[in-house]
Amino acid sequence: MIRHDLVLMKKVLRLFAMALFSGLQSNVAMKAYSAWEFGKINTKETIAMAQMTERMKELFDKVPTVVLSTVSEDGTPNAVPVGTKKILDDETILMSDQFFNKTRANIETNPRVGVTFWEGQEGYQLKGIVNIETTGRRFEDTARWIEELGTKVGVPLKSKGAVILRIDEIYGVAPGPGAGKKLA
Ligand SMILES: Cc1cc2nc3c(=O)[nH]c(=O)nc-3n(C[C@H](O)[C@H](O)[C@H](O)COP(=O)(O)O)c2cc1C
Repeated sequence: MIRHDLVLMKKVLRLFAMALFSGLQSNVAMKAYSAWEFGKINTKETIAMAQMTERMKELFDKVPTVVLSTVSEDGTPNAVPVGTKKILDDETILMSDQFFNKTRANIETNPRVGVTFWEGQEGYQLKGIVNIETTGRRFEDTARWIEELGTKVGVPLKSKGAVILRIDEIYGVAPGPGAGKKLA
């Protein structure tokens, strides 16, 4: 058993080293870490991504808010509405943190999150690992966007971070026989 754990630990450390030294974003390392934390050691599973369809992206853009769900270290769930959200590509979304409090603390100890959005009876749930970027181009673009938004609505707004979700699973949440079905 101990020997088995050591082998797993070696695999995880190797993943970390590869991610860090190949100059990839830290969310790759984060994903490997999370996979380890959640007892997933299958390398294929670690790198699996799920892609949103055109329809999912259209709905994500259209809804005014999505619900971001996180979980604390002791297992307490926390779901909050998020209005400042963007699609970066088929498998990546960005949410801006202006007011996250418990959400942020939860992400720092457990970066695995869910994002649910719907309109009428059609809805989707994205799951994956987030990374909070507080420097770099994506954060700077987000900071500018949020500042401009604040000016537009007449309330000063400041982004504390760009929360980037790499989607690894997508479920439907529409009521009916297909409810909760894995779509990607
Ligand atoms: C409609 C609506 C949209 C919101 N959008 C955002 C948002 O885009 N970014 C943000 O940081 N907080 C947003 N909030 C605030 C958060 O939902 C929440 O208040 C904040 O994360 C603090 O809760 P927590 O301690 O559970 O994280 C929004 C709230 C509402 C009601």
